[in-house]
Amino acid sequence: MFKKAIVRKPSKSMVKGLTTAKLGSPDFNLALIQHQKYIEALIECGLDVTILDADEHFPDSTFVEDTAILTPNCAIITNPGALSRKGEVLAIEKAVSGFYQNIEKIVDKGTVDGGDIMMVDKHFYIGRSERTNREGAKQLTEILEKYELTASTVTLEKMLHLKSGLSYLENNNLVITDEFVERSDFKKFNKLIVNESEVYAANCVWINDQVLIATGYPKTKQIIEKAGYKTIELDMSEYRKLDGGLSCLSLRF
Ligand code: GLY
Repeated sequence: MFKKAIVRKPSKSMVKGLTTAKLGSPDFNLALIQHQKYIEALIECGLDVTILDADEHFPDSTFVEDTAILTPNCAIITNPGALSRKGEVLAIEKAVSGFYQNIEKIVDKGTVDGGDIMMVDKHFYIGRSERTNREGAKQLTEILEKYELTASTVTLEKMLHLKSGLSYLENNNLVITDEFVERSDFKKFNKLIVNESEVYAANCVWINDQVLIATGYPKTKQIIEKAGYKTIELDMSEYRKLDGGLSCLSLRF
């Protein structure tokens, strides 16, 4: 059960954000509207939402998920893998320190993006990606173990982040797609397999038995609803242009 979320408004500089998507430049005004709707959905799911101001210095700073890992026992401030994103953590640490006493940090040469971390109860799957390196995974595992949590690593072959292709919906239900479907790491789960025509929809967000999903992916919506969840559709067009998914836009705890 989540009670709170932290989000950060997009900055006008988001048009210069990192991307591999080749979908064109985002429309800032539309992104602002979509962000407001996202906040309203979090509130509808019962969360108390802390909204941080935009920071023009950091084009990708609306993607707060990459900057921290919030567990029931501690908060871990990451060291994002992309150079342009490292400074994003300062504002997040300040915000998180209002809610957590135990705050840990990933330090150089370790890098971790929160988008590579999937929490399943007390276990954390750590994606080894272009953003999360071996040393970062090692540091994170040691921190989690210190707080009686466990971790295992999954090496990514092509996706940007682990949660680009996986979303845990509690009750052993795992939304899964593409390179992860056949991986033995996930064989114990009840897999809700996202069709290859809807890969972007695999990044969805469970919040207290409701699931936020991106608008425009009817097959995935149907699979999730058939598994018993109420869905809330959100238009993510402008964030998709920056390789951003629904989970990237908030820290939930
Ligand atoms: N544009 C989000 C990222 O690449 O980190």
